Amino acid sequence: MSQEIILTGDRPTGPLHLGHYVGSLCNRIRLQDTYKQFVMIADVQALTDNYETPDKVRKNVLEVALDYLAVGINPNKSTIFIQSMIPEIAELTVFYLNLVTVARLRRNPTVKTEIAQKGYGEHLTAGFLMYPVSQAADITVVKGAIVPVGEDQLPMIEQTNEIVRAFNRIYNTDVLKEAKALIPKVARLSGIDGKAKMSKSLGNAIFLSDSADVVAKKVMQMYTDPDHIRVEDPGKIEGNVVFSYLDIFDTDQDEVQKLKEHYQRGGLGDVKVKRRLADVLNTFLDPIRTKRAQLACDPQVVMDIVLEGTRQTRLVAQQTMHEVRKAMHLDY
Ligand code: TRP
Repeated sequence: MSQEIILTGDRPTGPLHLGHYVGSLCNRIRLQDTYKQFVMIADVQALTDNYETPDKVRKNVLEVALDYLAVGINPNKSTIFIQSMIPEIAELTVFYLNLVTVARLRRNPTVKTEIAQKGYGEHLTAGFLMYPVSQAADITVVKGAIVPVGEDQLPMIEQTNEIVRAFNRIYNTDVLKEAKALIPKVARLSGIDGKAKMSKSLGNAIFLSDSADVVAKKVMQMYTDPDHIRVEDPGKIEGNVVFSYLDIFDTDQDEVQKLKEHYQRGGLGDVKVKRRLADVLNTFLDPIRTKRAQLACDPQVVMDIVLEGTRQTRLVAQQTMHEVRKAMHLDY
């Protein structure tokens, strides 16, 4: 087992979807065998744009935990924990806030996009603007060296490392370690509408917990080639969501290649390809759904797993805070 530590997480604002799977879950499942891995349910971060609906966040902590366990994040290999139960993260965030300018936070590309999308204007809260600082605390409180995330999170890791360097320089220490993002090889999964990003808030997601019928329905709505009107027409593969999903999920890539050629030549209807994709996705999701349904029968067992992970994480976080306080001459 490598000494390097992985820290990663998700906001509990809804159940996880196929984009999460392709973007980070599959890396986490693979890496848990070789690394010490912490997987965080980021309820504090979820509150930065859901502070008025804490019950929604609360409910989704369980949903995300169910998704983790159902896809194969194994609690004997990975430590799953709840962010708000680690007060050391909040403490570290306060110390880090001195090392970051408001101007720098405003330039963070991910935050900038989100502020624009949500139309915050003058109502932008301090909490939302500074969530990358809190994310730096998430990562460094367990000395995370590797962070498996989707590519939209790259600016967060960059900002984390700026804080790490500033901290180590100013307090003349090497307590904190820089982190590396681990981005999947597969390009990110587009939404069913063809938008670049699959996201719950854009309403274009297929959830890991969707029933087979819902999956089939969503596949039937998928964006294909708007100029492919009659079956005989030649169709385009580029930008065609159905084919981009087959590229990722179909285990018979020779057949996919044949379908692509047929589609481009003309004579292959969208519905036929979509039926294949619905089958492919449901074959992939069936075991996940079954496991999820079993786990959902006994939520207390799931919460106990998460609480035990939280207890273990807290021990690591306390040790880091001890070192941080010493470096900052706060070890009274
Ligand atoms: N910002 C991440 C997201 O929206 C969630 C997250 C919070 C996270 N803290 C983290 C991811 C620390 C990796 C590391 O998906």
